[in-house]
Amino acid sequence: MRILITGGAGFIGSHLVDALVDKHEVVVIDDLSTGFKENVNKNAKLFVTDIRNKEEIFKIFRDEQPEVVFHLAAQINVRRSVKDPAMDAEINILGSLNLLEASIKFGVKKFIFSSTGGAIYGDTEIIPTPETVEARPVSPYGCAKLSIEKYLHYYYVNHGLRYTSLRYANVYGPRQNPHGEAGVVAIFLDKMIKGENPVIFGDGKQTRDFVYVSDVVDANLLALKHLDIVDIFNIGTGIETDINTIFKILNSFFENKYKEIHAEAMPGEQRRSCLSYEKAERILGWKPRIDIETGLRKTHEYFKKKI
Ligand SMILES: NC(=O)c1ccc[n+]([C@@H]2O[C@H](COP(=O)([O-])OP(=O)(O)OC[C@H]3O[C@@H](n4cnc5c(N)ncnc54)[C@H](O)[C@@H]3O)[C@@H](O)[C@H]2O)c1
Repeated sequence: MRILITGGAGFIGSHLVDALVDKHEVVVIDDLSTGFKENVNKNAKLFVTDIRNKEEIFKIFRDEQPEVVFHLAAQINVRRSVKDPAMDAEINILGSLNLLEASIKFGVKKFIFSSTGGAIYGDTEIIPTPETVEARPVSPYGCAKLSIEKYLHYYYVNHGLRYTSLRYANVYGPRQNPHGEAGVVAIFLDKMIKGENPVIFGDGKQTRDFVYVSDVVDANLLALKHLDIVDIFNIGTGIETDINTIFKILNSFFENKYKEIHAEAMPGEQRRSCLSYEKAERILGWKPRIDIETGLRKTHEYFKKKI
């Protein structure tokens, strides 16, 4: 199959490219704003292009004729989206619309979207949170992801473009960029390997649902396999882990030499986040396979070699 992956030079996208290149023709679109050329598998064809550039995007679709699109390219920084909602919308809404319009025009069979579970529900009492809880995002980033899910429905109903939207929890693993705002695991590991003590914001009892990158890739592969399934799925573990626990597990890889240091809490930070994956298991046959200790160990091994 001819497959187009946007954001294929990034953390999650590059792992997805690796999983698909052996069996498919893979084309990558990435502007390398947070991704890296060296992440892109040599058997994939890379176009260094911004998804906001409609003309270029249409040309690539016309020349490459992809049958399936995995859309991962995004402005992923929640705090940046708060500072500049219009910039976030330009990339995450208007850029995505360029891809959707091109998909219609050039006969794409299915559009698989990387959405967010962590930033789409807002604060909710129902934990683990199922998809039936109303999405009420509290950041422009979350609003943009939700609006693309609405557009996906529109394009499906009016143009027959099938889609799957995957709402990821907090993804971690090799190749995550430690210099971004996202990714506490990458940020802590980067510091610890360099001999610096990481800092925990607030009391560290805020929880997240940490899902390992290979499990997220598996969810994308299942969305591809089930071409006819048009739906929205949470992709998380259903397990809440607090930041202090992440720190403790990582610290154990360094003979517990670091101190648990806390700084002032980030204003407006969500207290709890955890997704139910019951629907993905029931319909896609997906479930997470890598537990947090194993995932953190694998991530540590990667960063140790890299830094
Ligand atoms: N990492 C997580 O925890 C997480 C959680 C929920 C959802 N997601 C979503 O998964 C997707 C991948 O995220 P990631 O963590 O791999 O981040 P990432 O920053 O590593 O990957 C994003 C990629 O998109 C590219 N990109 C950004 N803006 C672009 C533009 N205008 N045109 C073309 N390319 C552009 C970047 O260069 C990068 O390679 C994103 O859509 C993100 O919103 C990630």
